[in-house]
Formats: sequence, structure tokens, C-alpha cells
Amino acid sequence: MKIAIVGCGYVGQAIARYWRQYGHLVTVTTTTPQRVEELQSLADRVLVVKGNDPTAIGTALEGQELVLLSLGARQRDAYRETYLETARTLSPLLSGETSVKQVIYTGSYAVYGDRQGQWVDENTPVAPANENGEILAETERVLLAGDRQDLAVCILRLGGIYGPGREIAKIFRPLAGTTRPGTGREVSNWIHLDDIVAALEFARAHRLRGVYNLVNDTPLEQKELLDRLCELHNLEPISWDPTATERRPYNARVSNRKLIEAGFRCRYPQTRLDLIP
Ligand SMILES: NC(=O)c1ccc[n+]([C@@H]2O[C@H](COP(=O)([O-])OP(=O)(O)OC[C@H]3O[C@@H](n4cnc5c(N)ncnc54)[C@H](OP(=O)(O)O)[C@@H]3O)[C@@H](O)[C@H]2O)c1
Repeated sequence: MKIAIVGCGYVGQAIARYWRQYGHLVTVTTTTPQRVEELQSLADRVLVVKGNDPTAIGTALEGQELVLLSLGARQRDAYRETYLETARTLSPLLSGETSVKQVIYTGSYAVYGDRQGQWVDENTPVAPANENGEILAETERVLLAGDRQDLAVCILRLGGIYGPGREIAKIFRPLAGTTRPGTGREVSNWIHLDDIVAALEFARAHRLRGVYNLVNDTPLEQKELLDRLCELHNLEPISWDPTATERRPYNARVSNRKLIEAGFRCRYPQTRLDLIP
């Protein structure tokens, strides 16, 4: 299959390697000319593309059957340009005659907003808690509007990404010995890089369409996660100050049941806290 991966960072590189290993012809994009050489080792074609450039996106799409959007905004104020402008640039190019049969987008469970730790699934209406969450929700809507019989659009709402080089211990070690605002009761949802790669292949092979949460089986309260992490790695415990409040834009227990019912299984159903950076 001819596959274009628009945005080739942590996730994009892992799936590019995987798909190429299985004989697919892989095009990847970067916005950074200095990354071209590095990316040439894992792709058949590397293009320098900004998502809001219709000519460059058009070139990336030419002759492709599958487009994966695995974009990541570099700063908080770059969400609109990175996600929404890319979706709005892509959509009209797919609305006419196109070789593309499938679009997969790695989004985020941030679109559910703060649900006070309640369970959410794909039937739960989105309720973003801030502007960037709104932008992600609008990006989903723009992409889903392009779904039609001969073009399957699949949105994967990812949990926090961890894996080699992005171990949970590496992410949270700087918090050891500190006092955090709140009670730590807010819930976080995680997904290992290997499971993301497996789910992307699952979505490709089964031509999934619609929205699927991509999180592991076991949401964890932040306090529990950090307590266990500190114990496992002999780190100074973290304290909580319930008198200090902090806005929690993503406090929801995200269900992966829909993806499981479609036949997918996580290799890491629980968040691996033991991985050493
Ligand atoms: N990190 C998390 O915990 C988390 C949680 C939930 C969902 N997600 C979602 O998962 C996805 C993949 O994350 P990741 O960690 O693989 O991201 P990443 O490592 O930051 O890679 C992002 C890629 O997007 C490219 N990019 C940035 N702005 C762009 C633009 N305007 N136009 C085109 N390409 C652009 C970057 O280009 P360069 O090569 O030039 O840098 C890079 O290749 C993202 O969609 C993110 O929203 C992440």
C-alpha cells in the first residue's frame, strides 16, 4: 500500500518503520529541512511540508492510498495552525477524485474535557475545557465530514503517549519530592507506543472508520500513579495540597471498549511504570 505519514515525530517514525518493514511504500513529511536526512532511513520518500500549504500537501497525497495525520503542535499557541489548518487544507483535496481511500488521524482524549473522573466513551459528547481542546474537536469534525463510502476517515483519540525514550518515570521524575496542587484524584489515561503502532496497523487492515478511543485498559488516578512510580523507582514521595486548586482539562476515565469489541487487544493493558529511562 502507498502510505503518506503527515507529521513524522515519535509516533510517525515508529509506524513508518513498521509499515515499511511489511512492504508498504511510505512517504513521510517534516517541517524541518534538517530532519530530511535522518528520516530517509525509515521512508521511501521524505518531503518538507507545512500542513497549511495546499501545494505541498497535494504533492504528499499524489498516488497515495492511506494518509496518516500524526501531527504534534510544538507550542500551545500552534494548535490552530498545526491541527485545524492541516485538516482544512487536506479536506478539499480529498473531496474530489483521489487515490486516497483512507485517512487516519491521531487525536487526543482532551476533547472530552473535565468529566470529574467519570467514564466516557465515543458516544459521550465532546466538551473541550479550553481553546486548544476546541481546536482538536473542530479538527475531528472537519476530517469526519470527508468520510464517504470510498474514503474511510478514522479518528483515534489517544491517551498520554509513553514508551522508549518517553518513559513514565522520565516524564514525572522532576515532580519527586514536590507538593502538587489539589488531591491527585484526577484520572489520566495512557497508551504505550507499541500499542499505538499495533492500533494504527489494525485501523489500516480493518479500514476502520469513525471515532475510536486509543487508551489502555486501566485509567489511573494521578496520585496512585505517582505514588506507585515513586515507590518503584525509590523517588521522594509527592505530596498534595487540597487547598490549592489547579484546572484539570482532561479528567475522565476513557473507555477503550469500542476498539476491543472491534477485535483489538493492548499488549500493555496497564500503564508500565517500571520502564527505566
Ligand atoms: N504526546 C502525548 O502524550 C499525546 C497525547 C494524546 C494525543 N497525542 C497526539 O498524538 C500525535 C502524535 O504525537 P507525537 O508525540 O508523535 O508528536 P511529535 O513527536 O511532536 O511529532 C509531531 C510531528 O508533527 C510535525 N508538525 C508539527 N507542526 C506541523 C505543521 N504545522 N504541519 C505539518 N507537520 C507539523 C512535526 O514536524 P517536524 O518534523 O518539523 O518537527 C513532527 O514531525 C499528535 O497528534 C498528538 O496530538 C499526543
